[in-house]
Amino acid sequence: MKAVVVDDYAAIDQVALKQIARPTVTPGSVRVRVQAVGIGFVDGLKVQGRYQTKDPLPFIPGTEFAGVIDAVGDGVANYAAGQTVMGIARSGALAEYIVVPAEAVAPLPDGVSPEEGASFRANYLTAYYALAERAKLQRDEILLVLGAAGGVGTAAIQIGKLLGARVIAGASTAQKRDFALKLGADAVIDYTQPDWRDTFKTLTGGHGADVIFDPIGGPVAVEAFRSIAWNGRHIVVGFAAGSIPALPFNLPLLKGGSLLGVDLAQLPRREPDVLARCTAELSRLLASGALKPAIVSAFALEDFRAAFTALAGRDALGKVVVRIAP
Ligand SMILES: NC(=O)c1ccc[n+]([C@@H]2O[C@H](COP(=O)([O-])OP(=O)(O)OC[C@H]3O[C@@H](n4cnc5c(N)ncnc54)[C@H](OP(=O)(O)O)[C@@H]3O)[C@@H](O)[C@H]2O)c1
Repeated sequence: MKAVVVDDYAAIDQVALKQIARPTVTPGSVRVRVQAVGIGFVDGLKVQGRYQTKDPLPFIPGTEFAGVIDAVGDGVANYAAGQTVMGIARSGALAEYIVVPAEAVAPLPDGVSPEEGASFRANYLTAYYALAERAKLQRDEILLVLGAAGGVGTAAIQIGKLLGARVIAGASTAQKRDFALKLGADAVIDYTQPDWRDTFKTLTGGHGADVIFDPIGGPVAVEAFRSIAWNGRHIVVGFAAGSIPALPFNLPLLKGGSLLGVDLAQLPRREPDVLARCTAELSRLLASGALKPAIVSAFALEDFRAAFTALAGRDALGKVVVRIAP
């Protein structure tokens, strides 16, 4: 089968598409013929060995996928060959086939495309857990989403609207801000402008942000905290801007605000009940059509490098997807 194989941690242009043996199904697992793979910012860091955890070499990148079950291991009763599923794995999805434990997949709801299924779990779980469970975002509160046109940012816009918040989306280009408005944001700001906090203050009538969803970090994160409302919650999701900001400790005191860290990777171990509750609610919202991932940036398997380059170059809109097979 064809697979993207990382032999050494390196820039994506040094990673090759190879022919390797198709993995064999083991007891308790299923083999999926992969149709689509969702790629996130983290996947690019993992390929370069720059993520906080390193995948042992060699490895196949790609954690989120959707496809058709093609073989079922002994002891798996709830899946059969031919069933369409979406799944999540530590790695291995950027390949024509992947073998995962049966618990790692879920049926793809009717009417949901493989591209949408492959874009759903990580971003929407992060956004839902962060906003509903951690920040306890309330109806009519003001939510500021940074990096709003990116993968996890678009999910935060949609979840924020579903929870009844007034969503103000921050993004660096007019195209990204238009995209955020199309996804349901109520207003937009350009945080690359030096006076963006004045614009934000005007937009919120001087109130500020009740909740800040922050996947970018860097200097904008500290500026955003300065615009937090009394009792506001700033959710630390990631550092796509490339630097980890240092928050002066007087700011939470003066603003009555708090910082909340979110790490989806630790949820299965630390809060399995919360994870199950969030997953059930999101599955319901996906199946009902209330949530629809925005897929704008889709690439063929042969063009996988372009998918990673779009993310690293700040060029992607919504979730980046690699299509492997129909
Ligand atoms: N904590 C968790 O559990 C969790 C879960 C999922 C993702 N994350 C993190 O969230 C972050 C975003 O992930 P994603 O997959 O949504 O990425 P993405 O689709 O690439 O979106 C990231 C956004 O960050 C902004 N950005 C600002 N400076 C940037 C720079 N120098 N390079 C690239 N982007 C820059 C871009 O928006 P503008 O151009 O508009 O500024 C971009 O749209 C990553 O740090 C990831 O690790 C964390």
